Amino acid sequence: MAGAENSLFIKTLKGERSHRPPVWLMRQAGRYLPEYREIRATAKDFLDFCYTPSLSVEATLQPLRRYPFDAAILFADILLVLDAMDRGLRFEAGEGPILNPLDRASDLEAVSLSKVMQRVSPVMETVERLKAALPEGFPLIGFAGSPWTVAVYAIEGRGGTDKKNPKLWAYTRPDDLKAVLDYLVVVTTEYLKTQVEAGADALMLFDSWAENLPDHVFDWLVIEPTRKLVDNLRSAGVTVPIIGFPRGAGAKLADYVAQTGVNAVGLDTGQVPSFVNTSLPKGFPVQGHLDPLSVIAGGKQMLDRADQIIEAYRADGRPHVFNLGHGITPDAKPEHVETLMKHIQAMG
Ligand code: CP3
Repeated sequence: MAGAENSLFIKTLKGERSHRPPVWLMRQAGRYLPEYREIRATAKDFLDFCYTPSLSVEATLQPLRRYPFDAAILFADILLVLDAMDRGLRFEAGEGPILNPLDRASDLEAVSLSKVMQRVSPVMETVERLKAALPEGFPLIGFAGSPWTVAVYAIEGRGGTDKKNPKLWAYTRPDDLKAVLDYLVVVTTEYLKTQVEAGADALMLFDSWAENLPDHVFDWLVIEPTRKLVDNLRSAGVTVPIIGFPRGAGAKLADYVAQTGVNAVGLDTGQVPSFVNTSLPKGFPVQGHLDPLSVIAGGKQMLDRADQIIEAYRADGRPHVFNLGHGITPDAKPEHVETLMKHIQAMG
């Protein structure tokens, strides 16, 4: 079976430049699409939706019917591994995810790795079904949360916080936190390796809570576990490109790229193209980073900023996958996504 190596997306992640950047958008499947809201209403809850391959396959494909995206991303969630570890994950309306806060590292190991993998097996079925449903050679992105970000959710029991508890663990109980991160590296290695065996053509590691960490702590919370995860995947025979997304890494981006072994890096909304071009190795592929809020507003400001981003990496000869700087919001306008896509397609 022909793989996705010849797609614009995979070639870009491997370092090639092209006329126009390949495009996909974080959270391209989801609530800004009325057809997603419609099928979402048929499931008991969000977890049930994620564990029902027919629904997850459909959610993945919906945005591709509307827009000529260059890649599909598996419909799932970075928190499924914590659900599988019995951390009491639930999604409450208006609150986002809630979990039972972790007391100690060993709590995570209450469920065996094989049981965890059993619980997430519907995700692998979704990947398999997607590979069968997508046109031959069309790239499918698999993903997971990075160990630090998953640890933040596990310890805080929720997201959107100042990360106070996990940071205090780092200062008062570093060994316990290291044990949490090490265990998450093991689970995430298995989770991602299985996605690739099921057919994923690239992997993305979401480190959504990498922002606002002192630099010496960033090294062992973000860089080190990511490096171990990438090493493990390579030792396990995984060869597909890996995109790391340390959201809010700021000036630590260069260390992250130099030390983790990822093949490409996702840039957040606040990243500065001139800084990226002067700090990252020549030709190192990047992905990003239009402000998702500019897709609510639409119009000239959206297209002008898209042009600025594309031009900055083109001028530097840097492979670039166009994307947002964070996930698209539920109130983004589908017609603005259409305008943006037409604009980029017209570049060649
Ligand atoms: O299209 C895609 O990108 C694929 C699917 C995807 C989802 N979540 C679906 C989802 C992906 C890649 C994610 C990643 C994810 N999930 C991240 C990393 C990216 C980021 O945003 O930083 C994080 C932190 C999560 C955790 C998570 N899942 C939160 C905080 C929420 C609640 C958000 C909210 O506003 O309610 C979710 C739920 C979620 N994951 C939804 C979707 C479409 C919405 C739930 C619903 O439809 O009811």
